[in-house]
Amino acid sequence: MSDWDPDLYNRFSGYRTEPVTMMLAHLQLGPGERIADLGCGTGEHTVELARRSPGGSVVGIDSSPAMIGRALKLYQTLEVGLRQRLQFKLGDFRDFQAEQEYSVVFSNAALQWASNHRGILASIYGGLREGGRLVIQIPANESEAAQSMMHQMATEPPWNSALSEVRTPSEENVLPASDYALMLSQIGFSDVNCFYQIFHHPMRNPGEVVEFCRSTSLRRFLDRLPAAQHSTFVAELTHRLEEAYGTRGPLTFHFRRLFLWARRTAGSCEPVA
Ligand SMILES: C[S@@+](CC[C@H](N)C(=O)[O-])C[C@H]1O[C@@H](n2cnc3c(N)ncnc32)[C@H](O)[C@@H]1O
Repeated sequence: MSDWDPDLYNRFSGYRTEPVTMMLAHLQLGPGERIADLGCGTGEHTVELARRSPGGSVVGIDSSPAMIGRALKLYQTLEVGLRQRLQFKLGDFRDFQAEQEYSVVFSNAALQWASNHRGILASIYGGLREGGRLVIQIPANESEAAQSMMHQMATEPPWNSALSEVRTPSEENVLPASDYALMLSQIGFSDVNCFYQIFHHPMRNPGEVVEFCRSTSLRRFLDRLPAAQHSTFVAELTHRLEEAYGTRGPLTFHFRRLFLWARRTAGSCEPVA
């Protein structure tokens, strides 16, 4: 897949930060936390995690050279005291391995890009200290018009020859909340809480919804199409969304997100991968 476009992704940073604000409010970080941020992107939330834990340390891990490059630029602008407590690493969170090192493993809007969530969650369990917390948000918006329309178009001519196998990341990799609740308990976590929350984003028009998706779910489809067909696909998607939403003007874009909270408690059983 093509590399991420940090500017396009951050164009809607206000909306994309809403679930993080919610997670940070509930997380109540104390001093001296040891935190891993998996799929840290351009690093703003990683920095915020460090700011909220005086004396704590945070490592942000991301597999995109463009995103980690932007995070490292941000790093250079920070005060020395904060820099000493922060690290950004180019890496794949599917390889995350640690031995009871972290008090918090955090991840926002990243796990949907990978499969084998059971394996990843079991590795996170192994990396948490006793009492350590897992706090994850995963977009699960595959049923909303924008993503379901991309998928529908991919099954139709002339696009199906290139796109019939393509799925949005949420559709391909994200399981129902109840599956995660069972999985986390089986792995050995306690205080498990898996729930959906829908965020409501005012948009100027359906085209803006397409722009929102362009840096994330829509990339998968555009990547597989020749560049000459990108504008036709985007124009047709926009047109169909105008019909689906019943407007060419302002609308509210509803975005469902899945939250996973859990704790490794003292005496939890051994992890089951
Ligand atoms: C939607 S962005 C979210 C970034 C950041 N967490 C935020 O909230 O702004 C998803 C990020 O996950 C990263 N990512 C996807 N798959 C990954 C993997 N297997 N290992 C590490 N990072 C990954 C991408 O490179 C991208 O930066």
